[in-house]
Amino acid sequence: MTILVTGGAGFIGSNFVLDWLRQSDEPVINLDALTYAGNLENLASLQGDARHTFVKGDICDRALVDRLLAEYRPRALVHFAAESHVDRSIHGPGAFMKTNVEGTFTLLEATRAYWSGLADDARAAFRFHHVSTDEVYGSLKPTDPPFAETNAYEPNSPYSASKAASDHLVRAWHHTYGLPVVTTNCSNNYGPYHFPEKLIPLMIVNALAGKPLPVYGDGQQIRDWLYVTDHCSGIRAVLAGGTPGETYNIGGWNEKANIDIVKTVCALLDELKPSAEGPYARLITYVKDRPGHDRRYAIDARKIERELGWRPAETFETGIRKTVQWYLDHPDWVARVQSGAYREWLDKQYG
Ligand code: NAD
Ligand code: TYD
Repeated sequence: MTILVTGGAGFIGSNFVLDWLRQSDEPVINLDALTYAGNLENLASLQGDARHTFVKGDICDRALVDRLLAEYRPRALVHFAAESHVDRSIHGPGAFMKTNVEGTFTLLEATRAYWSGLADDARAAFRFHHVSTDEVYGSLKPTDPPFAETNAYEPNSPYSASKAASDHLVRAWHHTYGLPVVTTNCSNNYGPYHFPEKLIPLMIVNALAGKPLPVYGDGQQIRDWLYVTDHCSGIRAVLAGGTPGETYNIGGWNEKANIDIVKTVCALLDELKPSAEGPYARLITYVKDRPGHDRRYAIDARKIERELGWRPAETFETGIRKTVQWYLDHPDWVARVQSGAYREWLDKQYG
């Protein structure tokens, strides 16, 4: 048995691959285009490990996907590959349509052709697991209940619209062709190997460098935060026990305002690596808000708990402490990421 993972050199995908091979010996074929967000260094500990095969390539390349399916005959495909940063989607939505919509379409069509040719028992056992986001549901008011799987889709950014489109394709391929799909819609992840253009790692690396900590607007936007290995265990639970055609929301029951996240990061750094210049919170700088900025996301994760017995293992307090410590322990990883395209991006976004 083998699984095919797409986007397994990115933040969540690399955590998933590492976690998967810690829990099982089932081989992973990892298809990733290595965009700015893909970093093979995340998988350095798997060098020489025969259970992991890395293939550099684009999910829009139908011939390549066909070849990988025919050669490795996976029993499941777990689809992480995406353009994932809302701010980048505002500057340049084209890549999001290409990878998130056309790429998912290509994978669905290639998978449908491969799956159609399987024997009956392998066809029934096969899964196409689509990894998606809570951002497809739009923005909540302060008193709204958290997003349930039954909420209407109301995506507001080019990123969330492209993910919503891909979710709809996945749903349709099940409804029309019977492809055994499952979709998970997860809240904001954080943890090791998170590219430092997203809120939490950006705040950690900027604080350590004595740079401003840019908080958009009034900093009162709320996200639900989930430690990345909890997302990985949720995906494993849905892959193993989820019902084809169903969607499962995954979240941490951790709603936090951005400014409180930033202050927590500062307080942990004050404790773990105090600065001679004074508390890190001195670096907090309010900047222009993100256009169309969603005010609040929150996840109702009761379905996955009720049906599959999944709950997050980390609290926000344990997860954020591990995360800050990981960045303190891995300055070389941060330095190498920063010396690449990352720097050009920061210039464009923050001048
Ligand atoms: P990421 O940007 O860190 O990684 C994306 C990976 O996909 C990279 O390795 C990149 O090289 C690869 N990739 C991009 N385009 C590709 C293409 N055309 N062909 C092949 N590979 C390609 O993203 P992430 O944060 O790890 O997110 C992974 C998935 O989880 C995405 O689908 C995202 O929508 C979803 N998600 C993310 C979060 C979050 O908080 N980060 C939350 C919920 C859902
Ligand atoms: P981000 O990590 O980009 O995730 P998403 O937009 O997908 O939720 O941002 C998380 C929140 O933090 C979001 O409300 C935007 C805000 N934010 C800032 O205030 N400053 C920043 O520099 C960044 C990158 C994000």
